[in-house]
Amino acid sequence: MKLLLGHWIAFDDEGELIDEARGALVLDQGRIVERGDAEDLKRRYPAAEVIDHRGCWLMPGLIDAHVHYPQLPIIASHGEALLEWLERYTFPEESKYRDFDYAQAQAAMYLDQSLAYGTTGSAVFATVHSASAEALFQQAKRRGVRLATGKVLMDRNCPENLRDTPISGYQESELLLQKWQGVDRLQYAITPRFAPTSTPDQLAACAALWDAYPDALMQTHLSENEGELRWVAELFPQAMDYLHVYEQFDLVRPGALFGHAIHLSGREAASIKERGATLVHCPTSNLFLGSGLFECMAHQRADQRIALASDVGGGSSLSMWTTMSAAYQVSALLGRVLSARDLLYHASWGAAKSLGWNQVGNLEVGYEADILVVDPKATALSELRVGRAEDLAEALFALIMLADDRHIRQVYLGSA
Ligand code: GUN
Ligand code: FE
Repeated sequence: MKLLLGHWIAFDDEGELIDEARGALVLDQGRIVERGDAEDLKRRYPAAEVIDHRGCWLMPGLIDAHVHYPQLPIIASHGEALLEWLERYTFPEESKYRDFDYAQAQAAMYLDQSLAYGTTGSAVFATVHSASAEALFQQAKRRGVRLATGKVLMDRNCPENLRDTPISGYQESELLLQKWQGVDRLQYAITPRFAPTSTPDQLAACAALWDAYPDALMQTHLSENEGELRWVAELFPQAMDYLHVYEQFDLVRPGALFGHAIHLSGREAASIKERGATLVHCPTSNLFLGSGLFECMAHQRADQRIALASDVGGGSSLSMWTTMSAAYQVSALLGRVLSARDLLYHASWGAAKSLGWNQVGNLEVGYEADILVVDPKATALSELRVGRAEDLAEALFALIMLADDRHIRQVYLGSA
């Protein structure tokens, strides 16, 4: 049993921020068994090993709900919008992940880098190659993070060496799913890249696989870029809009994660809400690729399920701190700003709920102990600014805007 001393920050049942400056958390076998006041808990757990993080904040581990680990080597590639960026930078890099050793090295790099920023859970795209998903599952298991991934499904409109078929895609996905779903903290995500790179037969096969394994997630892209929208309209002339393609193949359900979802009609937004699917907000990517501005506050007010994501390599940072900061800046451009609570919620508890991960994202008794030890004084500037704050919301907002990996002193994982 461990007793962590520090200023804990969490969410109450309504999702509002709560904190305890002289706080403590009691951990046992990777779970939070008590949360409260330090003196009280020290008295009640005299045998626990005391670990002193006073001066630091204890916060929930962050969740990145959409990221492409094979795109790490092409992050920060200049000058293209989505469709050209895929052709010029992304597909050539993704063709290397047939090689298990290469995939394994990049998977390790992804996990170590994201953990350094305090990301303890993620939903990750691999490539079309089974080896790429296998490599990531193995590396994630070794580290004990919570992670969903799947091999990408694409059977048209991409280079020949990145294509599967409706049947091979189904079978390879199923083999990976049977091997990894529910192992430790791992989950399978059925991963059709996006409508333009799958035939109707393949989208139907995705739904059939999901029917057979309803505990899996389904992740894809939706309505990111204007050129993409026109392309989808050409490829699926019978669909009334982009989402309707996924609806026609019965892929809009709880556990469906739609990356970007920027240019939605009222009909599409209402349908996503009604069907309980999740909008994944990828602000650094939407800025970097010039895709558009996601109406986060409007969707939040409409009670949509929302999760934040880096979308590296379209996104320009693996850090969920930078991602929260970008989400704030996009909301400022739209004239309706997100609060510190909103930002953190969409990157932790809100994201966890959207993913169906019921025991992470908050520091609640019984939850898995994914806990960040955050030092608000790690840099002179954050020390100055956070020191000036008059309340928790102000301090947290300043840190969200200023934090990087130097502020993450330690990461506890619920698998420990
Ligand atoms: N749409 C289809 N594939 C991708 C991808 O790899 N990244 C982004 N941002 N959008 C996509
Ligand atoms: Fe993406």
